Parts: sequence; C-alpha cells; structure tokens
Amino acid sequence: MEKFIIKNNGPLFGRVRVNGAKNAVLPIMAATLLTEGECYLENVPNLKDVRAMKEVITHFGGVFKDISVDEKYIQISKIITSEAPYDLVQKMRASFFVMGPLLAKTGVAKISLPGGCAIGARPVDLHLKGFAALGATITQGQGFIEARAEKLIGATIYLDFPSVGATENIMMAATLAEGETIIENAAEEPEIIDLSNFLNKMGANVRGAGTDTIRIEGVEKLKGTRHEIIPDRIETGTFMIAAAITKGNIMVENVVPTHIKPIIAKLIECGAKLEIGEDTIRVDASDIGNSVDLTTLPYPGFPTDMQAQFMALMTILDGTSVINETVFENRFMHISELVRLGADIRIEGHSAIVSGVNGLEGTEVVATDLRAGAALVLAGLAAKGETHVNSIFHIDRGYEDLEIKLNSLGANIKRVEVAEIIHD
Ligand code: EPZ
Repeated sequence: MEKFIIKNNGPLFGRVRVNGAKNAVLPIMAATLLTEGECYLENVPNLKDVRAMKEVITHFGGVFKDISVDEKYIQISKIITSEAPYDLVQKMRASFFVMGPLLAKTGVAKISLPGGCAIGARPVDLHLKGFAALGATITQGQGFIEARAEKLIGATIYLDFPSVGATENIMMAATLAEGETIIENAAEEPEIIDLSNFLNKMGANVRGAGTDTIRIEGVEKLKGTRHEIIPDRIETGTFMIAAAITKGNIMVENVVPTHIKPIIAKLIECGAKLEIGEDTIRVDASDIGNSVDLTTLPYPGFPTDMQAQFMALMTILDGTSVINETVFENRFMHISELVRLGADIRIEGHSAIVSGVNGLEGTEVVATDLRAGAALVLAGLAAKGETHVNSIFHIDRGYEDLEIKLNSLGANIKRVEVAEIIHD
C-alpha cells in the first residue's frame, strides 16, 4: 500500500500537460473487440484502469503492444471466449463495456455482474434494456448476466437516464445490428463523441453523438483503424482547482476548452482570472475567494467527476457554498475526510452545505474513490502542515503521475510505502 505525504508549499506556478481521457480510452479499447483488424490508439494515458482493460482484451484473445509510451496496438483476430469472469469485472467495472461488442460480434456475452462501488449501486439495467430491445435474450444467474442473440435487429431505445455507459454499450452493439438503431435521451459527453468517431473510422455509421439522439445504421463488418484519444477534461479540471486552491497561476496544456465550460464558469464566479487559448488554459487564482453554488448534471452540465475536487476548494472560500449531487446517490464519501482536515460541511440529502473556513490543518486521511482521492490531494496542497493521503491506489486508477505533475508546479508530495495495517 502507498500513501502521499503532502507538505503545504504555497501557490503553484508553471505549466502542466494533461493526458488522454480515461473515460474515452476505456470504451474505445472495448470497441476493438468489434473487428479482427489492427487498431492503433494514440495519446493513451498510463493508468491502472488502462492496464486493467489491457488484461480484459488479452483475456478475450487480443494482442496488445506498447508502440511507445502513449501509443498502443490492439488486434483481436479471434475472440476465444465470450465470458468475462468476476475477478476481471470486479477489478474495474468499465470491463462491462465489453458486453455490447461481444454480443454484436459473437452473439453471446456472459459477464460477471459489476458490483457497486463507493459512489453508488451502479446498476446496469439501462444497458440490458438496450440489448433486449436489439433482440437479445437476457438471463441473470448467480452473479452474472448473459445476453444471447442470433442476430441483433435495430430498434429505438429510450434511456430513462442519459447513462454514459449504457449509451456507449448500446452504440457499440448497434454498429453490427441489422437496420437502424435510435438511442433517445442519450448521454452527450465528449467521450461519447470520441467513441463515435472511432467507430465511424472503423466503418460504422453513427450519427448524432453529442446530442440526445444517436442514430446507428448497422453494417456487415468493421475494420481496424488509428485514433488519437481526446484530452482528459477531468484531469484538466483537477489541475485548474490545484491552481485555485493554492491561489497560484498555472497554464494547463493539451486542453479542449469547450469540454470544460462549466468548470471555467464556476472558477470565474469564484474570482479566478482565466486566459483561454486554442488548446491551453491559464488559471490566475491570486484574487480567488467568492463562494459559489453548483449542481452536478449530465453533460453539458457541471460534471459529477469534478464535484469532490470543487468541494475541496469551497472549504476555504469566503462564505457558504452549496453543492447538489444529482447524478450518483452516494458521492459524498470525501466529506468526512475533508472535515478531518478542518472543513465545515454538513449534508442535507443530496446537498452539501460548505461554510468556508480560514484554513485547513493537515492530518491523516483516506481516499475512498478516485475523485475523492484527488480532492484530498488538492486539500492537502492548501492545508497547514503535513497531510497524509492513504489508499492512493484509487488515484492511480485515473491519474497518470499526479504527484510528479503537481511537484513540477511547485508542490511537495512524496509517494511512500505504508506497512499493511491489519484491521482485526
Ligand atoms: C461514467 O460512468 C464514467 N466512467 C464515470 O466516471 C462518470 O462519473 C459517469 O459516467 C457519469 O458521468 C466511465 O466512463 C468509465 P452512468 P457510468 O451510467 O457510465 C445510473 C470517474 O470518476 N444508471 O452515466 O457508470 C447510475 O446509477 C468515473 O472517472 C442506472 O440507473 O455512469 C448513476 O446514478 C466515476 N442504470 C447514473 O445513471 C444504468 O443502467 C449515471 O451513471 C446505468 C446507469
């Protein structure tokens, strides 16, 4: 087990470059199951979750090669099984993205039910509603789900909630179905557009990604292709908050400004000065201080994946801020840890009321999930003294070299081994 030891080192200054988007590369890696052709993926981040998805690809018979530090080669010339076992899915629930491609390519997919996680039950009913609408027979057994279909037939599917994963899984399945599939109330995230671009380069016919209605005309076969993964808008936002919480001045590079509009708007409301370039954003937080309210919503609303990080900032703004979390039912696990650092936060249903305090005091805290961990690191940058963030394996799932990048901006973070604490 490892932890971060963070010493407050004052405002951050300098430039940092973000990597490719975790939530784009994971479904795109799953989509390579739809072809026997050779795929080359560029701007792939070096993350635990990418390594986990590599294991999934090789489990199904795929060849995965590192061409360079961020370029990967994937080819699955023959799918050798249609089952994804518990240990693979349990390690990373995004493995569930293989269900759509497997079903479309082989006619059967037997996937261990992905468990819930710290932020919620994470059901997959909308994924299954889509597969059933395409003609698959769904059976649920001890801890697994099986979908089976001789041939998938295009259908119109209304998503009760604009689920990112369900939109992606159904979109992938529909590429090889007979006829047209329409996904209504689809998720509109940039990662959906990136997946759609990848599928269309493979020869699919996907229209409308990025809107609430996506049309997919099924085709016979898909071929291998080359694709560059979009930059990670959540990593971008995390570094913007690192500047804000330390009242620093940093330039973030390899950015798509249109993907981070809600974060830009909210930081300006807090008093930050932003300079927006073609693929860069400068955050000058020397005068930051105003409290702000926000509500998380599906894209283009404020992203739930930035809720914990923004809350860390709110703990030291002047006045009271209110955060409403509307996407996940249990995404406030970081609050108790922020309170240990001296924050003043109370929960009222799906809202958190954050009263700004003069300063945070470093102490031992523990990451409960990926973004909660990032929020605690950000709080540690501003807290007096030393903050120890435990269970940082959560953070390594979604951030490549977070401490190295922050230290290049002037932070003082050490990654150290921790003796296993055995709880009786
Ligand atoms: C994706 O998860 C992201 N993960 C999450 O990022 C992100 O928080 C989430 O989208 C929302 O933007 C990846 O892309 C790998 P959802 P996903 O289906 O697809 C409910 C991170 O930190 N729902 O849009 O699982 C669900 O319970 C991670 O990078 C159903 O009810 O999210 C939740 O309340 C965390 N039935 C809401 O929809 C379903 O069948 C949003 O979930 C599916 C979802």
